Amino acid sequence: MHDALRGQRAHWAEALASRADRFGSAPSAPARAAAERFLAAGARDLLELGAGQGRDSLHFARRGLRVAALDFAASGVAAIRAKARAAGLEHMLAAVEHDCAEALPFADASFDACYSHMLYCMALSTPRLEALSAEVLRVLRPGGLQIYTVRSTADPDCGAGTSYGDDMCEANGFVVHYFGRDLVKRLARGFDLLDVTEFEEGDLPRRLFRVTQRKPAVRAPAAAPRRRAGRR
Ligand SMILES: C[S@@+](CC[C@H](N)C(=O)[O-])C[C@H]1O[C@@H](n2cnc3c(N)ncnc32)[C@H](O)[C@@H]1O
Repeated sequence: MHDALRGQRAHWAEALASRADRFGSAPSAPARAAAERFLAAGARDLLELGAGQGRDSLHFARRGLRVAALDFAASGVAAIRAKARAAGLEHMLAAVEHDCAEALPFADASFDACYSHMLYCMALSTPRLEALSAEVLRVLRPGGLQIYTVRSTADPDCGAGTSYGDDMCEANGFVVHYFGRDLVKRLARGFDLLDVTEFEEGDLPRRLFRVTQRKPAVRAPAAAPRRRAGRR
């Protein structure tokens, strides 16, 4: 692995430590929409990946979802814990320091839903993303929903800066993996892919995909064919 990819954890930890609410304090538009979608589906337990400083985690907890918010930056995790404490929501929001390149630290079928805003498009190679996707499938309950967003190959920044192959580029020390639709389809393995929507965010504007997919529900075993009544 290239050193720039290895150094991302320290780089993010420093970036989040040096600026409170780097992405703003208000919840993102995808998080507001995802919260309603998850609640409408009856979700209670939510896993959030790459939660940053918790702007979306707080929103989910306020809307009544029990959230496990993961990030590999210790400063981000500390910020989320402080916000949960200040809001009196520690019973609804637990922040965990974890690198999503590793297996998720949860038992099978622990969550009703999984959300991530711009985590899959971090410095994770395609094989690592496939492994992460399989992990999300494992920790979701049957019928569980996943909503994730990623910067797409149509993003104005795609191709700028130093390229590491696999559609990954580094600019200002941050590595981004830009997604084409083929990669979205590849990561839908084992899921029912429900929706892929293009949207824009910020002043650039960034161009992203919002992907919604579902772990198939367990099907009831087919009923045995009934014998027809009558003479034998
Ligand atoms: C673009 S920021 C988005 C933060 C947050 N989702 C938001 O929208 O406010 C990406 C976040 O992912 C985290 N991150 C990047 N790679 C990660 C990894 N391999 N495991 C866990 N977190 C990671 C970074 O520390 C950062 O907080």
